[in-house]
Amino acid sequence: MCEVTNLAATYGEYAIATGASSGIGEEFARHLSSVGLNVVLVARRIDRLQRLAGELSDAYDTHTIVLALDLLADGAVAELHRRVAHLDIGIVVVNAAMSTTGPLVNNSLSEELAVLRLDGAVPLETAHRFGRDFARRRRGAIILVASSLEAGQILCNGQTCATSQITTPRPS
Ligand SMILES: NC(=O)c1ccc[n+]([C@@H]2O[C@H](COP(=O)([O-])OP(=O)(O)OC[C@H]3O[C@@H](n4cnc5c(N)ncnc54)[C@H](OP(=O)(O)O)[C@@H]3O)[C@@H](O)[C@H]2O)c1
Repeated sequence: MCEVTNLAATYGEYAIATGASSGIGEEFARHLSSVGLNVVLVARRIDRLQRLAGELSDAYDTHTIVLALDLLADGAVAELHRRVAHLDIGIVVVNAAMSTTGPLVNNSLSEELAVLRLDGAVPLETAHRFGRDFARRRRGAIILVASSLEAGQILCNGQTCATSQITTPRPS
């Protein structure tokens, strides 16, 4: 097994965590900061991001940047990419997500389309934009956080299944 001990030297000094205002994204941000990376926190709820940024700068000797962005807004991924262009970004944790529950036909179409976009097209665009940078520099890592619910809930939750198929990287 290959163990990477210095993430900043291996990948770059900054990591991005989308969906960092709660849950798994918030924990990713804490962990990345604890291992010495500067972290860009992305989500809509700026109050929660600012509270986390304060906690991280009290606890660790790293720099934290808060970017309040609605990733469903037109051009949001391009804006994220543009706003961090001056930073040495090495890791992107693509985690922001939403989900619906219950039978597809009981839910609103607009909400289902938003799930498809946030959990499918947004990760794809993020991986494409930052992946190109990383390929050019020949270093960088993209972590795609998805759901494993597709294993058993295809009939009840086809969206989770569909978007997880899109966002789960396959081993080579
Ligand atoms: N929880 C589980 O048991 C579990 C298990 C396996 C996989 N996962 C996967 O892990 C990921 C995160 O799950 P979680 O449970 O941590 O979810 P969560 O607590 O609901 O967090 C979702 C995050 O996404 C952000 N977000 C939602 N809509 C957004 C938008 N339009 N623009 C920007 N940010 C947005 C939210 O922030 P704002 O509301 O502030 O924007 C929040 O920070 C998902 O991909 C999920 O499928 C979860």
